[in-house]
Amino acid sequence: MPARHILAIDQGTTSTRAIVFDAAARAVATSQRELPQIYPAPGWVEHDPEEIWRATVAVCRDALARAGLDAAAVAGIGITNQRETTIVWDRETGAAVHNAIVWQDRRTAERCAELKAAELEPEFRQRTGLVLDPYFSGTKLAWILDNVPGARARAEAGTLAFGTVESFLLWRLTGGRRHASDATNAARTLLYNINSQRWDLDLLRLLDIPHALLPEVVDCAGDFGATTADLLGAPIPVLGMAGDQQAATVGQACLKPGMVKSTYGTGCFALLNTGATAVRSKHRLLTTIAYRLDGVATYALEGSIFVAGAAVQWLRDGLKLINRSADVEALAGAARPGHGVFMVPAFVGLGAPYWDPDARGALLGLTRDTGPAEIAQAALDSVCYQTRDLIEAMKADGAAIAALRVDGGMVANGPLMQRLADTLGVAVERPTVTETTALGAALLAGLQAGLFPSLDSVAATWQLDRAFAPREDQAARDQRYAGWQAAVKRVRSAG
Ligand code: G3P
Repeated sequence: MPARHILAIDQGTTSTRAIVFDAAARAVATSQRELPQIYPAPGWVEHDPEEIWRATVAVCRDALARAGLDAAAVAGIGITNQRETTIVWDRETGAAVHNAIVWQDRRTAERCAELKAAELEPEFRQRTGLVLDPYFSGTKLAWILDNVPGARARAEAGTLAFGTVESFLLWRLTGGRRHASDATNAARTLLYNINSQRWDLDLLRLLDIPHALLPEVVDCAGDFGATTADLLGAPIPVLGMAGDQQAATVGQACLKPGMVKSTYGTGCFALLNTGATAVRSKHRLLTTIAYRLDGVATYALEGSIFVAGAAVQWLRDGLKLINRSADVEALAGAARPGHGVFMVPAFVGLGAPYWDPDARGALLGLTRDTGPAEIAQAALDSVCYQTRDLIEAMKADGAAIAALRVDGGMVANGPLMQRLADTLGVAVERPTVTETTALGAALLAGLQAGLFPSLDSVAATWQLDRAFAPREDQAARDQRYAGWQAAVKRVRSAG
């Protein structure tokens, strides 16, 4: 059988997935495993790298078995991943020296504040497109070097390697033969210059990070080496790689300047394609690489929200208001209209456009008749309002946004998508495939494998399931939004 399938690995914050796609970009088999979260201290979030690795191998094997395929039928692997999550491992043994420090982890807030106080933020912004926030890998990596005994000396001696999750997985998949990442993931580290497309030696010096730790940076469709023969039955080339939000941008076919997508997973991340121009936001959005092909970067403005689906998880696991995440739709549907409850889910601080790592969450506007339904509705509304914060910032930066393409687990909730359109005053478009992250990784690998001749043919795979047009009048929409803005003010830290 000719190799006409692609295996996409999607290593996310809460789960690890493998999806087999055919040459028409249809998903033919899926396998998934939950990823346990480790919370060693308030504001700290870790993952066990061995758990990530074991789950990755297991879901790949399982997805291939479910598809009834062996390695020979697979033209290539595409990897996509939770971004920024930081792993340091030993080049000799492959063992991580510390748990992965997850993107949500706030332990380096103080270090970021010091760098800001030294007025270094404009420098970091200009070179990396990012802000000084513990979200990004750079200060997490420095923390590991400073806190794991002996790590700094080993890093300087060149015996340790750093990578975000895609890079760690590639190292393991290739049996330690490739230490590489791609431009989109590199662009999230606070160490990569998105203008010169190189690791930035000045920033490495500022953060005291030895260059010897860093991976080679490759285009998103390229040669990443092949898996070891024993892993999946035969070697399979790894041909595509992108951070999950960038992969979703490709999977959503937001391939022209002005197109914007928003993905609702653990967090919510909106990316606006700005083409060949690295647009500098005046409203605290990030400038990032959407994808890089044949050495040419396409840029994006990004708004990053740390808690979206995680707010529903909290209703389920923390408050125990629902048994299954999907039950939130019915519970919120029973809320008293006009209840005036606002939830600001700043559980791990606030991301764009506030960048306030010390803010913490709040429920406001409670009255004696507030019940689970109103709280559930306030949680879902917070996802809509936070998205509006991002869309307003994009507009203020000059974008004319005609429609928002949405994807991720939460978009199955029709009333929520209607509420989103009402809150934004912009049409919300839901595609038939909402697993766009894995799809994007598969498309990138398929492009490299020659299954898809061009980006245009990739764009042609996108299909609309349903468009949600705004129905609420402008005054009502703005009044609700003003209530949200007032609630956010209440939780902001003094700094
Ligand atoms: O930047 C963090 C992001 O990549 C995580 O995405 O889908 O795991 O919430 P997700």
